[in-house]
Amino acid sequence: MEEQLNSVFASYKGEKNELIPVLQDVQEELGYLPDEAMREVARFVRLPEAKVFGVATFYARFHLHPRGDHIIRLCCGTACHVRGAGKVADRVKDVLKVGVGETTEDMKFTYEEVACIGACGLAPVMTIDEKTFGKLDPDKTKKIIENFGQEAEGGQS
Ligand code: FES
Repeated sequence: MEEQLNSVFASYKGEKNELIPVLQDVQEELGYLPDEAMREVARFVRLPEAKVFGVATFYARFHLHPRGDHIIRLCCGTACHVRGAGKVADRVKDVLKVGVGETTEDMKFTYEEVACIGACGLAPVMTIDEKTFGKLDPDKTKKIIENFGQEAEGGQS
């Protein structure tokens, strides 16, 4: 990790106002922000550790835990909620055996719930990485996730 951090730090001066871009680059490099990395960032930009942890926790774009290969985002906006997103959410959690914000044991999927993603006509909606899936019900969702897992595996070979 030290090497990766040093390669990020090499493009910066180590100033306080660089905190967010530095965190972004570190996250890109490591996939998430481990505690140790945030301590190093704090030292580098000369800010208290608490400040760095506070910023990383505040912004949804920063991730403090390792993430899966694929990110599932289920919309829990009003239109999706009214059309049964709650039941879909229960099924996703059941199939993956995770809670919101958690990653499956095999590191394949991370499950997140998000606000309206602007596809209300397709409610309930979820995305897996860049792909959008609409008009979901619990059974359809289960199949999509299972198929996606298999396709992704096939695609990587
Ligand atoms: S509320 Fe789900 S896409 Fe708008």
